[in-house]
Amino acid sequence: MLKINRSKSKGRICTFYAVLSLWVVGALGWYHFHYRSVLSNEVPHSIYNMYDEPPVDTDAAAAETAPDFDYKNSHIYKRLQKNYNAYKEVDRPSSVYHDIFKNHAIESVVRNLDFNQRCDLYFRNVFLKNHNWVFDPNANYEVDFGKKFEEFQNTNSAMLQALFDTENSGKKVDNYDKKFADFKREFYKKQEEENNEQRIVDELTLFRLYNKCYVTDDDPVQEKRIGAFVAEQKDLIDGDETLKSTVTPFRQTTREMLVTNGMRLPSLDHRIYPWLSLELPVFERWTGQIHHEIPNFREILRDNSQPPKRTRATKSTQSTSFFKNFKNNCNGKGIVLTIADKHADYTANFVRLLRALNNKLPIQIVYFDNLGEESKRKIVTAARESFSYLPQSFHGVSEYFPQDYLDPKSDGLPKQEVWFVNVASVIGPNFKGKFTGYASKLLATLFNSFDEFMLVDADTALMQDPESFFEMKGYQETGTFFFKDRAYYQKTDGAFAEQFKRISQSPVDKVMFDINPMTNHSFRENFFQNLFHTMESGVVLIDRQRHFNSVLMIVHINFFKPISSRSWGDKELFWFGFAFNGDEDYHFNAHGAAAIGEMTNPSDRRRPDRTLHHSKELCSPHPGHISEEDNHTLLWINSGFRYCHQADKVDFEKESKLGRRLKFLDITAAAFREYYYNPLKITHAIIPPFDPEIKNRPNLNDEPSHGWLLEKGYCKGYLWCAYSSIGGITNKDTGAENTMEGTVVTFNEKERALFDYYGDIWVGME
Ligand SMILES: *[C@@H]1O[C@H](CO)[C@@H](O)[C@H](O)[C@H]1NC(C)=O
Ligand SMILES: *[C@@H]1O[C@H](CO)[C@@H](O)[C@H](O)[C@H]1NC(C)=O
Repeated sequence: MLKINRSKSKGRICTFYAVLSLWVVGALGWYHFHYRSVLSNEVPHSIYNMYDEPPVDTDAAAAETAPDFDYKNSHIYKRLQKNYNAYKEVDRPSSVYHDIFKNHAIESVVRNLDFNQRCDLYFRNVFLKNHNWVFDPNANYEVDFGKKFEEFQNTNSAMLQALFDTENSGKKVDNYDKKFADFKREFYKKQEEENNEQRIVDELTLFRLYNKCYVTDDDPVQEKRIGAFVAEQKDLIDGDETLKSTVTPFRQTTREMLVTNGMRLPSLDHRIYPWLSLELPVFERWTGQIHHEIPNFREILRDNSQPPKRTRATKSTQSTSFFKNFKNNCNGKGIVLTIADKHADYTANFVRLLRALNNKLPIQIVYFDNLGEESKRKIVTAARESFSYLPQSFHGVSEYFPQDYLDPKSDGLPKQEVWFVNVASVIGPNFKGKFTGYASKLLATLFNSFDEFMLVDADTALMQDPESFFEMKGYQETGTFFFKDRAYYQKTDGAFAEQFKRISQSPVDKVMFDINPMTNHSFRENFFQNLFHTMESGVVLIDRQRHFNSVLMIVHINFFKPISSRSWGDKELFWFGFAFNGDEDYHFNAHGAAAIGEMTNPSDRRRPDRTLHHSKELCSPHPGHISEEDNHTLLWINSGFRYCHQADKVDFEKESKLGRRLKFLDITAAAFREYYYNPLKITHAIIPPFDPEIKNRPNLNDEPSHGWLLEKGYCKGYLWCAYSSIGGITNKDTGAENTMEGTVVTFNEKERALFDYYGDIWVGME
């Protein structure tokens, strides 16, 4: 309680109010002067009346006619660019910036507008450019050599002719018609490619800014960061007399004022996401209970180990933005799969394995209206039935599990909390075709309801408790954990690397909105160093509260063919999405994928002179991933847990007679069949060496020159051999060599016993 001595304070209060009202009058005047808002949008004239010239507003005219139009050459721009170290070789930013800086001096924008006002300015100009702007998920960014090319040739024939003749400086040209035709084609192609890239940049920038401006603008971390960013810019200008003297008041142009609706534009959701219905998916618990809102796991499961729903949203939580509401309602931590009926058996095996791993996290199975009752029954049964008949191999490992591992009532493995998430309702009817196959995984990334999730493929086999993945340092630090694919040399298209850079964000995005440019972290993500597959998306961890907009970008980027066509399915889209969102806070496990299984007996692969190789070999249909934390722990493998996931399609007669591999097996179809259907035996892992610079390490002593070899004859073409070293002697006289060593991991007895147990559980062995 505040006590006030009335008689004494009365005079002070009067003075206080007098000062206050003076201040208010002053502040309003200043505000009106510095940021002429649309609050007074009574515009007395019409832009369409040819006799109705708008009255000349001298202040506005001064501000609007004298801007430093070439903003990239302005003192302030260069200064900020240097501060942020934001440079780009070929810089073609969104064309909306051109419109903005045509009418406003950059000093004025940077000094006078805060983040929300900059957003407002940007989206006013988006509207002015095209009142009917709407994202087109079907847009084609390929060069069109059809009708459009015809028209181009017809309208520009004189110009093209002149250019061609100048290029040949009047000399006689053999084969003139053909050469001129090629010239026209080339000219057109170049111009169209540039136009298409500009369109992509415009679309990506708009999407990125919309999300930052209107979806995560209530995020406390972002608010703090962007507030400090804007304040720093103001201080920089105010602290520099020369700069300060160039600042003019910010005044909206007459046209900008014509876009009404106050400081905030209405939700553009339906234009940004025309492919979405803007409805939530339907969440169904294993009990059959249906939730039309996002389930709160801590409450429903009465499980206090689930992270509480984070409190955030400093402003009003009821927003017109679909994804802002969605973001603010996500909660908890869990495992996410996306499947169709054909994956039901694998999923049931995976769920059983989770029980053996003592998993306590809830599981969301995202599907797209193609998961029948039968499949659900299979999966729920795997998750909930009493599971007390454990395989023989359990005896060898029971001591490694905690006291409460087996349910005291049934003696069975821990039951799993399975949910089905039907996303059929979230896609508009005309766009359902866009989300078949791998793209359904993108929907799962977007529409699961966890704050923190681990996205897995149905054929992924985890080797550690899922919770331990979230405890890895890389995840804790960045809120992501990604895995690399097999480092298998494959020539990539250098032109794409250049395009990737060109369409990435611009320095002006940084100056205006604190959007970070891409750095070597993304450019060097091996992708540009002769690897077509850099990411293995069988396990992906993301903390969505830290990376919400990057997750949105992952899905969005899939609509841009020139970008998405460089990804094998969804694989690369994850880090593409982060990179194009200006979010390089993503982490890859340090090691590339390993071959997992049993080593080849060295005497089964002698050199031609019968001596043994220096390199060791491990051939396996399963890639696996070794933790970077100890360079030893096997985290997960893929392609299920049978030795050969293609066993159903294998011609055993044929494969058993080849005689190149698996020499320890009897040469009978029956022996191969049994081996292929049984669980993979895991004793070793080899992470082969990879040198992105030198493709080949040819040598004289029959050592492998590449780390990976695809052995097409086995497991229906899925057997990959990995080598512990590549290269060897290159000159017998000097003894010169080019050997490069990889990593061999030998699992101990406890680990092998656990792998055996997990394999038996997955395959369903007695
Ligand atoms: C990024 O990588 C390129 C090529 O490897 C190198 O030339 C450049 O100096 C690097 N840039 C930075 C800022 O490290
Ligand atoms: C793991 O191996 C890397 C080199 O690949 C090394 O830098 C790191 O120190 C190793 N970590 C441990 C815990 O041995």
